[in-house]
Formats: sequence, structure tokens, C-alpha cells
Amino acid sequence: MGKIFAINLLAMVFLGLSCGGDIKAEGRSSYPIDIDTKLKLLNKPAVKSIQSEDGDIIDCVDIYKQPAFDHPALKNHIIQMRPSYDVATQENSKFPLSQIWQSKGSCPKGTIPIRRIQKKDLLRDTSLDNFGRKYPTQSSYPSSSMPKESNNSSLDLATVNHSTALLYSNGDDFLGAMGEINVWNPTVVDPEDFTTAQIWLKAGIQHSFESVESGWVVNPRLYGDIKTRFFVYWTRDGYRRTGCFDHTCSGFVQTNPGVALGTALRNVSTKSGQQQNISVEISKDPHTNNWWLKLEKNIPIGYWPPHLFRYLSSQKVQLVEWGGQVYSKRLTRPHTTTAMGSGEFASGLYGKACFIQNIRIVDDSYQVKYPGNAVPYSDETNCYSTWNHPEKGGEPVFYFGGPGRNPKCP
Ligand SMILES: *[C@@H]1O[C@H](CO)[C@@H](O)[C@H](O)[C@H]1NC(C)=O
Ligand SMILES: *[C@@H]1O[C@H](CO)[C@@H](O)[C@H](O)[C@H]1NC(C)=O
Ligand SMILES: *[C@@H]1O[C@H](CO)[C@@H](O)[C@H](O)[C@H]1NC(C)=O
Ligand SMILES: *[C@@H]1O[C@H](CO)[C@@H](O)[C@H](O)[C@H]1NC(C)=O
Ligand SMILES: *[C@@H]1O[C@H](CO)[C@@H](O)[C@H](O)[C@H]1NC(C)=O
Repeated sequence: MGKIFAINLLAMVFLGLSCGGDIKAEGRSSYPIDIDTKLKLLNKPAVKSIQSEDGDIIDCVDIYKQPAFDHPALKNHIIQMRPSYDVATQENSKFPLSQIWQSKGSCPKGTIPIRRIQKKDLLRDTSLDNFGRKYPTQSSYPSSSMPKESNNSSLDLATVNHSTALLYSNGDDFLGAMGEINVWNPTVVDPEDFTTAQIWLKAGIQHSFESVESGWVVNPRLYGDIKTRFFVYWTRDGYRRTGCFDHTCSGFVQTNPGVALGTALRNVSTKSGQQQNISVEISKDPHTNNWWLKLEKNIPIGYWPPHLFRYLSSQKVQLVEWGGQVYSKRLTRPHTTTAMGSGEFASGLYGKACFIQNIRIVDDSYQVKYPGNAVPYSDETNCYSTWNHPEKGGEPVFYFGGPGRNPKCP
């Protein structure tokens, strides 16, 4: 109750700001744009709409009219309906993802399900400009070559208001990565905070890196509640001006008719109970250079076309990260109690702490393997910890997370 109230209150505050504020369009254009125009731009005409029991509305949109095609680089883009390759050896016909909205219907052939963005979603954000975006991790550090970020202590310097606990692998020759992510519903206490468990594939210049990402998130600022949702994300400038979650801007091309980006997962794990996982793969199609997202080993969801990027269009991935990220303006004392993972420290291990297992990279000859140089990293080990735990007779499982504020993280 308290949390929902806080969220509504915030929306009201922002309503005031947004109406009087200086509202700008996305990207480089700077003409003022009002909320109704923005809504019209974001939401495409629906062939059919599905009212989900959790309050979301899912629009079934003609696959050729999805938001991606508003992107200037994708004006004449021809959809690649399925990847031309398979890196995962495992055939898997399992349903990719169980989401709450699916119990109320499905989308007709030729359409894809898109979570409708409502006026209240826009009003909740600090500005229309920020809608659907992570905040920049860094403000004004000089840029230099990217891999440095991952091999010395400058990673914490580079991170403003974000706390990460992750496993990274640094190289020059990755064509993909995968991992099976344990699903939880951690506490998020401030309406502006978010917490993720995800994989990142990055390239480019350090502080204006390019990244394609997917996993689960609790993000009340964007979605208006504290449910665990499946998301995709991309940026080409270190979260500054480009990219966004899901379909909240143009870029990601969806092909799968059964999964809606940014909608709530039906099942999350419980302490010492049934564990839920989502298996995420992002890899480059050798023929089109599209970065394909697949779930449950082999089920294609959609892709990021190379035209969105500079480095990821022609080059390989330099850095892969698996783990969690908390955004909060209260990473100082007193520290936020927004949690990461399950809210338990990595030392809780299976059934208590969040994990990512079956961690893989795809190397430059499309070999799928456990990364040779996987290194755990945490910004604030007393708040959110890591443990790449060697399992008996097998490869390590990466545990991460924590409660945020606690006696050691005041
Ligand atoms: C960091 O970089 C140095 C030199 O470039 C290398 O020898 C070392 O193995 C790297 N360490 C990690 C943890 O990646
Ligand atoms: C980390 O990178 C910075 C910037 O390149 C450099 O000045 C510093 O010496 C590096 N630290 C270590 C421990 O390698
Ligand atoms: C997910 O939850 C539903 C009920 O909410 C249950 O029927 C189903 O068995 C659960 N699935 C798994 C894999 O636990
Ligand atoms: C998630 O992974 C764990 C550990 O491998 C496994 O025990 C569990 O059955 C998985 N859950 C599902 C729903 O597949
Ligand atoms: C980080 O948080 C501070 C408040 O602690 C805020 O003033 C600043 O704008 C935030 N920076 C970013 C990039 O979100």
C-alpha cells in the first residue's frame, strides 16, 4: 500500500513539472512535443487489444508497423523473420516465457504483442525526454578505450548512482553470450529506483559505450508497479541520449508473437522453494549482422539491427557482463534498501541467493563455451556481493545480490 501510494504521489509531482517544464522530443530534434503527440508516436494502431489482469493493456500490432520502423536508420528495413544460424546445440520447443497477460488471449498471425504506454506512464517520469531510459552511469569523465572499464578500479568511478555486482569477461572477439538467470522479486523502495538481473554485451568507447541487454527488472518509474518483468534494452552512448527499454523508443525489431517486452512474469522463485529461471541468449547473425535475442536456448524473440550502432555494427563485442544493477539516488548514507537479486547476499547460495548459470560466450568462430577469463566485480561488496561458486565436478555458478542497506552498508 505504502509503495503504491508513493508512486502515485510522485506521478502527481511530475504532472506539475511536466506541464510547466521544457519538454523536448527524443534524439536530436528539439521541438517541443506534448504528451498526446508522444503517446500517438509510441503506440501503434492495434489489430486487437488484450486487457491483462494486472492492469497492462497489450496491443497486437502489425509486425510491419512496430515502433522500430520509426527509427531513421530503419526506414526501409526488411524484417528478418528468423535467424540464419543456431549456436545453441539444444533443441527446445518449450514455451519461451510465462507472462501474466497471456492468460487473457493471444495475438493473431502477422502481429506482435506490445505493452501499451499510457498517459500515466509518461507522467510518472521526470521528463518526456527521459522516458524509457536508464540514467547515464557517468557524467563527465574523459573517454578512452573501453576494456579499461573492466580491468581496473575505474569501474566504480565510472558509475554514478548505479551499483553493480557482476561477472565480466573481457576480450575482443565475442559474437554472443548467454546465461540462465534465476528470477526473483526484490524490494524496490523508491519510485525512481530500479533493480535488474541481466546480461550485457558491450562495445565502443568507455563512457559512451554501446550495449545490448536483456533480463528481468523491477522498475516502478517505467512500469508503475513493483512486479518482475522481462525486458530488453539498448544504447549507443552509455545511456545518455539513445536507446531505451523494450518498445519505448524505436530500435528493437520483434518477431515473436507470444512474448510481450516489459510485461510481468507469472512465476518468481521463493526462498528454499521452486526456482524459476529465464534463459537468455544474444548473438550476432553472421549473414545480417543483426544481434538476435533468443530465450530458452533457441526461441527467437527479435533483434537489434546493426544500423543502430557504430561499433556493434561492424565489430565484435568487447565486454560481456552477467549480473545485477541497482539504480538509486541513495547509494550514499543512508544507503537505499532497494535490493538486488533475491535480496540475499551471494553467500546464501542456491535457493536463497540469485544466480546465473550455464554462462557462455560465443567466440569468433561461433564456438560456445564458458568464458576463459570470467572475473567477478562488485561496486559495493557490503551492499551487493558476488560469488562465482565452483560447483562439485562442474563449472562455476555465479551468485550475486544483496539487501542494500544493512549494518555493513549503512
Ligand atoms: C588486467 O589487465 C592486465 C594487463 O592488461 C592483465 O595482465 C590482467 O590479466 C587483467 N586482469 C583481469 C582481471 O582481467
Ligand atoms: C586504471 O585505469 C586508469 C586510467 O587508464 C589508470 O590511470 C590506472 O592506473 C589504472 N589502474 C590500475 C590499477 O591498473
Ligand atoms: C507458475 O504459476 C502458476 C500459478 O500461478 C502455476 O500453475 C504453475 O505451475 C507455475 N509454473 C511453474 C513452472 O512453477
Ligand atoms: C532453475 O534452475 C535450477 C538450478 O539448475 C533448477 O533446479 C530448476 O529446476 C530450474 N527451474 C526451472 C523452472 O526450470
Ligand atoms: C545522482 O544522484 C544525485 C542525488 O544524490 C542527483 O543529484 C544526480 O542528478 C544523480 N545523477 C544522475 C546521473 O542520475
